[in-house]
Amino acid sequence: MTDEELVQEAIKYREHSYSPYSHFAVGAAVLTKSGKVYGGCNIENASYPVGICAERTAIVKAVSEGERDIVALAVVGDTPGSCSPCGMCRQFIGEFKIPKIIMANMHGARKTVTLEELLPFAFTDSDM
Ligand code: THU
Repeated sequence: MTDEELVQEAIKYREHSYSPYSHFAVGAAVLTKSGKVYGGCNIENASYPVGICAERTAIVKAVSEGERDIVALAVVGDTPGSCSPCGMCRQFIGEFKIPKIIMANMHGARKTVTLEELLPFAFTDSDM
């Protein structure tokens, strides 16, 4: 699967966004080593901090299906530039050492970075 195909999967899952409070829909998709794709969207809550981001939804879906070996993650939002994962999602992405992060928007912007670039000086299992 190409990076652009993974972005298109994220765009598809963005349609499922439940974001009645922010009205900001986000979609994400992860590709596993086995070639499977798991998609996610942001799911908000009346108690705001309870909501979950699209990236973590997608990762949770993969890991809970026994797929921890994730080779790439794409995230998309209707942002002016490429949609950037929040800090909490960066830490979550770091936990599963996802090596490639593709950030995109709805207007053709694409930016691909490594985990090192996304989360420098990360706190990881090797720090404990
Ligand atoms: N959001 C994501 O889904 N991913 C991010 O990395 C940035 C923020 C969601 C959370 C919330 O539902 C909405 O976007 C506005 O912050």
